[in-house]
Amino acid sequence: MARMRLVVATLALALMVNPSFLNSMVDSSNVAEFLYPEFYQCSCPNAAEIVRSVVAKAMAREARMAASLLRLNFHDCFVQGCDASLLLDSTDKIVSEKGSKPNKNSARGFEVIDEIKMALEKECPRTVSCADIIALAARDSTVLSGGRNWEVPLGRKDSHGASLKESNNNIPAPNSTLKTIIAKFKRQGLSEVDVVALSGSHTIGMSRCVSFRQRLYNQTGNHQPDRTLDSHYASFLRTGCPKSGSDQNLFLLDFETPAKFDNFYFKNLLTNNGLLNSDEVLFTQSEFTKGLVKLYAENNEIFLDQFAKSMVRMSTVKPLTGDKGEVRENCRFNNH
Ligand code: HEM
Ligand SMILES: *[C@@H]1O[C@H](CO)[C@@H](O)[C@H](O)[C@H]1NC(C)=O
Ligand SMILES: *[C@@H]1O[C@H](CO)[C@@H](O)[C@H](O)[C@H]1NC(C)=O
Repeated sequence: MARMRLVVATLALALMVNPSFLNSMVDSSNVAEFLYPEFYQCSCPNAAEIVRSVVAKAMAREARMAASLLRLNFHDCFVQGCDASLLLDSTDKIVSEKGSKPNKNSARGFEVIDEIKMALEKECPRTVSCADIIALAARDSTVLSGGRNWEVPLGRKDSHGASLKESNNNIPAPNSTLKTIIAKFKRQGLSEVDVVALSGSHTIGMSRCVSFRQRLYNQTGNHQPDRTLDSHYASFLRTGCPKSGSDQNLFLLDFETPAKFDNFYFKNLLTNNGLLNSDEVLFTQSEFTKGLVKLYAENNEIFLDQFAKSMVRMSTVKPLTGDKGEVRENCRFNNH
């Protein structure tokens, strides 16, 4: 509440000095000031607890669900901002983002989001947005896997539409160069520090064979494996990920501590044991990102702390606020 008062006071002052200030605010891509953790304090005081309990139940059924829910936040926020556009199913008017290259046969956890939404609709109908549910579920997934807690700014609204095109263009591919990855994060207002810290999400969860096969057999188009992939690890991976077929076979992103949110992902990168090409390039393609990988590998606390900060930044990219957008009753469809 103190923060809200400060925002209001600052706005009033800015308007006195320069009456066109509000327009420049509205145009600004960083509108995170309009989100705040206490948003549902009066309208749905138990919202955060309800989300946490459904996430905990889902993780008890399947530990990997934490990773799947965390990834939804990334794939939502990089497309039109954090507006739950990812959750919309196809209709006459909507072409779902679920069919994009990065999401197809890969993005998962939608049933858990539905379960959270149903519990929240029972408690406080049409109050908590699907976009806020995604942000809360990502935080809870991290914390319940052993990561650091953070306060989630709230008050996002849900989009009326989706963008298959942005989903294909904005989300980096596992064989993207580091330069491309950094450029795609910059487009969202995110830095190289955010790239490295947020890639640390790959300390939990799994990848399909098809996402890293190129590294095993034909990295540079000359039928050689990637030289920045440990050879023992590569031969292990080839046993379950042949030259063709078995595309959907699953492999742990962090084989040391696969379900624990810690810095073993970074330790693996130091020894060429990163699973995806987009992981290993953080250590091999730039001195700056390599320095961060080493720092996080050495110090779990520094990693967890930066991860929390970067998640707040990522989960507040271009939110819809105020009377823009809606609070969907069913996260898969717009209200009638
Ligand atoms: C830096 C660029 C990134 C690339 C190229 C990338 C790519 C990928 C790929 C290819 C997979 C495996 C998907 C599959 O084969 O089904 C994956 C999984 C995953 N990604 Fe990323 N990712 C990136 C950044 C992020 C970020 C920023 C987050 C979250 C903040 C994230 C969270 C995850 C998680 C948790 C999984 C495991 C999901 C599961 O087990 O269901 N990734 N990522
Ligand atoms: C990355 O993989 C895609 C699909 O497998 C392929 O079409 C593309 O050429 C690859 N890009 C690079 C830089 O290797
Ligand atoms: C190997 O990569 C090259 C260049 O990207 C491509 O033209 C060729 O078809 C690939 N071969 C196989 C077997 O994937």
